[in-house]
Amino acid sequence: MFELCASILAADFANLERDMRAANAAGVDAFHIDVMDGHFVPAISFGTGMVRTMERLTTKPLDVHLMVEKPLDFLPELEELGVKRVSVHYEIPGGPEAALRAICAAGMQAGLVLNPETPVESALPYLAQISQLLLMTVHPGRGGQVYLPGSNEKIAAAKSLLQGQGSNTVIQVDGGITPGTLPGAYATGARSIVAGSAVFGGKIDENVKMLRVAI
Ligand code: DX5
Ligand code: ZN
Repeated sequence: MFELCASILAADFANLERDMRAANAAGVDAFHIDVMDGHFVPAISFGTGMVRTMERLTTKPLDVHLMVEKPLDFLPELEELGVKRVSVHYEIPGGPEAALRAICAAGMQAGLVLNPETPVESALPYLAQISQLLLMTVHPGRGGQVYLPGSNEKIAAAKSLLQGQGSNTVIQVDGGITPGTLPGAYATGARSIVAGSAVFGGKIDENVKMLRVAI
């Protein structure tokens, strides 16, 4: 399995439809949507109103990454929009348990996100609930950052943890993915890749080809 998710945060919002259609035509597998609330991370990106707009522009699955303190508030609308997968951070106040449970109860796939400094073992209590473990390979909150050193070792540690538990949870990586960093992430065990700048910066069709060729 390999999945390339285009992170819309890096699209040109003045030309959102053009960029999403181009990524669609270039053959990305899904769209990754970063919702930020200005509390969990300093930045505010967009809310569910924009997710609604994005949903109209593609038939590809939507992979929503909630960088918010209160994910429960967002779930009813994401469910209504037919979002396939919703990932929530381990580090939110009160922990991710209630949100993961609600995502599963709504029939969506649940993902757990670990910040760079959060150890992979933190995911252990949640493995039965999650279909995806999202490892942040940059500090969350903005695009265009550099892939953090030590990320490949962390992916490898997550892979061995999941294998040891007999879990088929997919490892997703998010942040700093380029044709240069993708091979290491893939080789160490990531199978769902989020890329923002590397998809939307410049010629989208060529960018997607370069990423696919990289693995
Ligand atoms: C960062 C976001 C990412 C971001 C990745 O907090 O979660 O999805 O868009 O951007 P690039 O691929 O440019 O690092
Ligand atoms: Zn993201």
